[in-house]
Amino acid sequence: MEKTFLMIKPDGVQRGLIGEIVGRFEKKGLKLVAGKFLQVSREQAARHYAEHEGKPFYEPLLAFITSGPVFAMVWEGDQAVALTRALIGKTNAVDAAPGTIRSDYAVHTNFNLIHGSDSPENAEKEIANFFTPDQIVKYEQTIQRWI
Ligand code: RTP
Ligand code: MG
Repeated sequence: MEKTFLMIKPDGVQRGLIGEIVGRFEKKGLKLVAGKFLQVSREQAARHYAEHEGKPFYEPLLAFITSGPVFAMVWEGDQAVALTRALIGKTNAVDAAPGTIRSDYAVHTNFNLIHGSDSPENAEKEIANFFTPDQIVKYEQTIQRWI
């Protein structure tokens, strides 16, 4: 089963949107297998956003992601990466389709509420940056056969 790494960013936490955002993935039919509320360190943030090193928004992005607590999660399901990216919406809130998280709640690209892995390979790396293997919970969600 495919896994993806999602992280409600400091703006989503401060705005009280954890429950709202988590509920969307639950209702979609995905399965939560790990969750952690934490303050991201500079080193951890640099690993997470390594692909953006050198870009003009890199330093502000690290400052932002370490500016307050985040809610990091691992979700599982068929096509979990693509499905969660579809629910999240495009990076820039202006381009995000109506009904997506970023369209419904975000105004600026810099405050776009949630991160979602963009490939199963990156998901694996990002999960390892935030969770140890024993923190990924294996369990049966009985409703899965109806989804
Ligand atoms: P994310 O990684 O956070 O899920 O977002 P994404 O895939 O939609 O966008 P990505 O290109 O990976 O960019 C990572 C984050 O950097 C900030 N950003 N700012 N000012 C800009 O042009 C710009 N471009 C990207 C956003 O916070 C974006 O989520
Ligand atoms: Mg990205």
